[in-house]
Amino acid sequence: MINFMTLTRHILEGEKKHPEATGELSALLHDLALAAKVISLEVNKAGLVDILGFTGDNNVHGEQVKKLDVFAHDMLYKAMDHGGHLCVMASEEEENIIHIPPHFKRGKYVLLFDPLDGSSNIDANVSIGTIFSIYKRVTPDDGSPGTLEDCLQPGVKQVAAGYVIYGSSTMLVYTTGEGVYGFTLDPAFGEFLLSHDNIKIPKKGRIYSINEGNYKYWRPGLKKYIKHLQDAVDYDGKPYSARYIGSMVADIHRNLLYGGIFIYPADRRNPNGKLRLMYECNPMAFIIEAAGGKAIDGKNRILEIQPEELHQRVPIYIGSPDDVDMVRKFLAENEMAETE
Ligand code: AHG
Ligand code: MN
Ligand code: MN
Repeated sequence: MINFMTLTRHILEGEKKHPEATGELSALLHDLALAAKVISLEVNKAGLVDILGFTGDNNVHGEQVKKLDVFAHDMLYKAMDHGGHLCVMASEEEENIIHIPPHFKRGKYVLLFDPLDGSSNIDANVSIGTIFSIYKRVTPDDGSPGTLEDCLQPGVKQVAAGYVIYGSSTMLVYTTGEGVYGFTLDPAFGEFLLSHDNIKIPKKGRIYSINEGNYKYWRPGLKKYIKHLQDAVDYDGKPYSARYIGSMVADIHRNLLYGGIFIYPADRRNPNGKLRLMYECNPMAFIIEAAGGKAIDGKNRILEIQPEELHQRVPIYIGSPDDVDMVRKFLAENEMAETE
């Protein structure tokens, strides 16, 4: 039997539980889902570009062929600029904040996004994603343009966050802070249908996801932690499995369902790690915490970091709560040893 809990219906029913809701957040999520469908279609066509003669910089229509991450950025912007609910946006693909065109109404929400995550995987047909994060503006809601200040809020202030994964199927996962819900796109009739109700991350997993090629740059605490998982002294002799796709969305999605930890650490080369606080770490941390997991920068909760700039990077250790507690312990013990 078909489950007719569409994303739209789910959002509307969620809204009914909050009599104070104005429906604006629902409208935003609805528009984001539309952008996701268009990006999903384009992602599915990615391998056909050469075959269909889209070579060089121009396609058959004489239009410039856009890289998929630029396409995704443009699509999100176009789907979100006119709804009247946003006052400002920011994207990983754009250096500065993005204003709402003056002829459209401006509302009380702020949208930040990573249009295409894992973009180095596109040509190999490996899962990629889109990540989004929504805040309420902090400047007065008087129709004026939003500012950088509206964007630079700590992750705890998010009112919703989600991601889309373009994998063996396309899924949209979102939370408004209460429960995490996953919807699978039915390619035949283009609807997101509820497939993963109230997702909870296992308390402890058996998977670690980290780019182990960077081993020589790691700090001693991290080396010891990963060795500990491999030695499996605590886990009936069975080591953890290593799984690393290289798309944060896909790696964290798998760990959300199966349990485990995803790490993009600070190391000797990159003291702030690689991933972006505003577009990647905050939204993923909000989702994982809503599913019962944890996310830290090595010591402190990701969601409590006061951002200073739009494209700020931050180390991240995120996943099952027991696994995050364990890595925190290893890092703390070694930091003490290093300073003694
Ligand atoms: P993006 O494609 O948005 O630039 O993000 C890529 C990120 C992230 O998805 C992934 O976890 C990480 O880069 C992988 O980095 P390494 O290749 O250094 O492991
Ligand atoms: Mn990314
Ligand atoms: Mn990206």
